[in-house]
Amino acid sequence: MRIDIITVMPELLESPFNHSILKRAKERGLLHIHLHQLRDYAINKHGQVDDMQYGGGAGMVMMCEPLAKVIEKLKGERDYDDIIYLTPDGITLHQKIANTLSLKENLMLICGHYKGIDQRIRDLYVTLEISIGDYVLSGGELAAAVLVDGIARLIPGVLNDETSALTDSHQDGLLAPPIYTRPAEFQGLKVPEVLLNGNFKLIDEWREMEALKRTQERRPELL
Ligand code: ADE
Repeated sequence: MRIDIITVMPELLESPFNHSILKRAKERGLLHIHLHQLRDYAINKHGQVDDMQYGGGAGMVMMCEPLAKVIEKLKGERDYDDIIYLTPDGITLHQKIANTLSLKENLMLICGHYKGIDQRIRDLYVTLEISIGDYVLSGGELAAAVLVDGIARLIPGVLNDETSALTDSHQDGLLAPPIYTRPAEFQGLKVPEVLLNGNFKLIDEWREMEALKRTQERRPELL
């Protein structure tokens, strides 16, 4: 999978993509991430990419021309399955969206800053608008990092234990059950007996019950 990310702050994204699972995905040739500095497409030599809002109001708006220039250039080089704008007024990211996007070949992500991007770029180019939650970040970069991480771990071959993504919270519509590792007793708290007896049918049943219980307690609307 190839992901092109348009941003005025590529430095913000370098660290998350160079560690852990995303690093491994890149090293295995399963994920190719390309960061594009929007200021390289600025309207003048001062690197201007934003301007005041028509109609007045606080906050700058990212201009059409620089964004259109970089988007057109990338679109000229390959077809994109989706051009995604990270924005608090997009649809809220959930596991099904990550699952769907993990099957795509080429994605383009646009990170907004200031007040956001000119509506005409959304109308002309953007095919999907995603929010990572009902709160406002100072830019789309951290949201893009969250989205890429959520997608990348689902690409076959990225996780070492192929089954592990399937047992994540949300993958089957439920929250994940509690998990334990050694020691069998810690500060007086014991690992549930059922997990120690090697009866995998009982273990599966226990996990399912616990997943249901946890979902009922914490996120009943998921049931
Ligand atoms: N940009 C600013 N806030 C955001 C959010 N909650 N989700 C996605 N992009 C954003």
